[in-house]
Amino acid sequence: MELLEGKVALIVGIANERSYAWHIAKAMIEHGATCAYTCLPGEKNERRTARAVEALPGGGGQDPLIVPMDAASDPDIDKAISAYEGRFRAMHVLVHSIAFADREFLAPGKFIETPRDAFLSAIDISAYTLLGLTRRSKDLLSKEGGSVMAMSYYGAEKVVPGYNIMGVAKATLEATARYLAGDLGQHGIRVNTISGGYLRTLASSAVGGADKISEQNLDRSPLRRNVEGGDVGNTAVYLASDLSAGVTGENIYVDCGANIVGV
Ligand SMILES: NC(=O)c1ccc[n+]([C@@H]2O[C@H](COP(=O)([O-])OP(=O)(O)OC[C@H]3O[C@@H](n4cnc5c(N)ncnc54)[C@H](O)[C@@H]3O)[C@@H](O)[C@H]2O)c1
Repeated sequence: MELLEGKVALIVGIANERSYAWHIAKAMIEHGATCAYTCLPGEKNERRTARAVEALPGGGGQDPLIVPMDAASDPDIDKAISAYEGRFRAMHVLVHSIAFADREFLAPGKFIETPRDAFLSAIDISAYTLLGLTRRSKDLLSKEGGSVMAMSYYGAEKVVPGYNIMGVAKATLEATARYLAGDLGQHGIRVNTISGGYLRTLASSAVGGADKISEQNLDRSPLRRNVEGGDVGNTAVYLASDLSAGVTGENIYVDCGANIVGV
């Protein structure tokens, strides 16, 4: 029997085939899961996500559900989960793999200039949405036991030049996941974060100086390489499966060990 056989996952955050969410969906499908997807509204975004879903094993599933959802909008979250409910009885896995910050303030030395609206929108879209989505999905997740996971980054803990407000948002995301884990464990729902290493994607290319990190990893990370999407995908499968039944409120680094290196 496959690890995720009989499990249904909602994947939030596929923009294209480079997205972390795409690699997570791929690994989950390969281990027997059925996936449903959301995408950012707008013709171009919807087309791009649909193409990426089609490129997943088995075309992402039979007649895959892809629902447009701007996570900054509560009615959109509600509509997306209602569409999921129309199709599936339970939700076993919720993958949160979205983030946003105004790139104007994602450059080394620019954190101090972050205005209130840019600060709040980064935290809203990158962190609050984990709470909003999980709350709306709680009944579905508790039906047969659920695993929620969200993508974080090292900049939540340490100063990474240029990561700036995203670092504050990721710290908020990780703390949000722990508090959700505290509330939801009694309902059979686990909540964890994966702190992924640098992967070249639309989101990471908005961070000034990110390419330098990827070069440094080749010399500095214990495994002497950058992380690949599949590394995170496989960890997501572990978190989605019963192999991690006793794990909640944790942050798991999947970064080739880069976070353990001091100087
Ligand atoms: N790429 C990296 O190096 C890296 C490292 C660690 C963590 N992460 C995290 O992984 C997650 C996925 O990012 P990625 O690198 O795959 O980039 P990506 O650009 O492929 O994915 C980001 C996603 O966020 C979505 N998004 C942005 N605003 C949204 C909104 N208002 N509503 C709904 N969706 C919205 C985009 O549509 C996109 O699908 C993010 O949380 C990111 O911070 C990325």
